[in-house]
Amino acid sequence: MAVDQSQIESALSAVRDPEIGLTLGELGLVRSVRARRRRVHIEVALPVAAWPGTEELAEAIHEAANSVAGVDEIELDFVVMNDEERAELRQRLRVGMGGGAEPSGGDDDHAGHDHAGHGHGSAPAAHMPAFLGADSKTRVIGVSSGKGGVGKSTVTVNLAIALAQAGYRVGLLDADVYGFSVPKMLGTDHDPIIIGDMVIPTSAHGVKCLSMGYFVPDDQPVIWRGPMLHKAIQQFLTDAYWGEPDFVLIDMPPGTGDVALTLAEVMPRAEIIVVTTPQAAAQRVAQRSAFAARRLKLSVRGVIENMSWFTGDDGKRYELFGSGGGATLAADLGIPLLGQVPLVNAVRQGGDEGRPITAVDPDSETAVAFRTIAEKLAALGPARVYRRELSLR
Ligand SMILES: Nc1ncnc2c1ncn2[C@@H]1O[C@H](COP(=O)(O)OP(=O)(O)OP(=O)(O)O)[C@@H](O)[C@H]1O
Ligand SMILES: [Mg+2]
Repeated sequence: MAVDQSQIESALSAVRDPEIGLTLGELGLVRSVRARRRRVHIEVALPVAAWPGTEELAEAIHEAANSVAGVDEIELDFVVMNDEERAELRQRLRVGMGGGAEPSGGDDDHAGHDHAGHGHGSAPAAHMPAFLGADSKTRVIGVSSGKGGVGKSTVTVNLAIALAQAGYRVGLLDADVYGFSVPKMLGTDHDPIIIGDMVIPTSAHGVKCLSMGYFVPDDQPVIWRGPMLHKAIQQFLTDAYWGEPDFVLIDMPPGTGDVALTLAEVMPRAEIIVVTTPQAAAQRVAQRSAFAARRLKLSVRGVIENMSWFTGDDGKRYELFGSGGGATLAADLGIPLLGQVPLVNAVRQGGDEGRPITAVDPDSETAVAFRTIAEKLAALGPARVYRRELSLR
């Protein structure tokens, strides 16, 4: 029996690329299928040579082709797309995320972005993803703390995973240009891929992740001026393929300043949650950052208290950093305390090793705490829009 070529084509087009999460059909990656008797030759074009997850993709392609009656032998060739194909892929991705056309001049010899910026309030990119629009269902949530070292990144990473575990599509932008610890904590195993002027976030534990840290040289202090930061964040949100996430969490740099201002400008619907420790001092600093966000008319939605207690070998809870900071802050701000996260060695270790506790030990007290926080956050629903006139559509 001869193999039916069109059956193979449709089986292949349903195969999902593990990196982008869309099917080969949606991405247009299958370049050719040739069936001769019981032998099939398949050519798949990848955006770049070092495409992550190629092995996994090859397996899925073999499996799909094998499922077609009469196929005995499969020959699979991966080739690298040419510039034209890459431009077409970007176009597909932009349409997929509800954006407009390819910006003019978006060619492939584009050598990195101009981070110098041209001041705040620059015009939105022509291909603005739908999730930045006023009618988008995506909730963009900045995680802020005021004070450094309170576990903001740890909370952001674990909360993102907990939301993904609850079935939400989640993006995570590490905008903490001074820390950028998120990819390591999340345990992503490769750098993001750049296709022309589009960045494909890496993903781990169901969370799509991008960090500004990928785009600055290692071990070199970078002084980010406000306009630079503004431009960079805008690009990270607009030039990346985020799909249509339900949530985008942003790990904000410590302090009050520029990133909140950018969020307020680029995404007036953005919400803020505040992480604090039980200490009165940390709570006061966190309060200042919450007030600053409010002055920008960003909606401050809830408080998460981290390092709330430590459970000793004797089973007793020790409040190493005092108690009540989270509840007091929440009461002062008139918003809910979304939850308390205990101080647990496995949390730190999980962060250091890129094995976040919520993913690797989902039954632990901490993972349960993060799931509860995720549920409460989801239940709050999106924020009211305060300033429609500033939205970009
Ligand atoms: N609940 C916790 N239990 C144990 N260790 C924790 C907990 N939360 C955070 N840590 C650890 O505390 C340290 C600081 O946490 P993290 O990097 O998340 O804080 P941060 O607020 O993002 O800091 P920075 O201001 O440097 O960005 C890390 O080593 C982290 O693993
Ligand atoms: Mg951090």
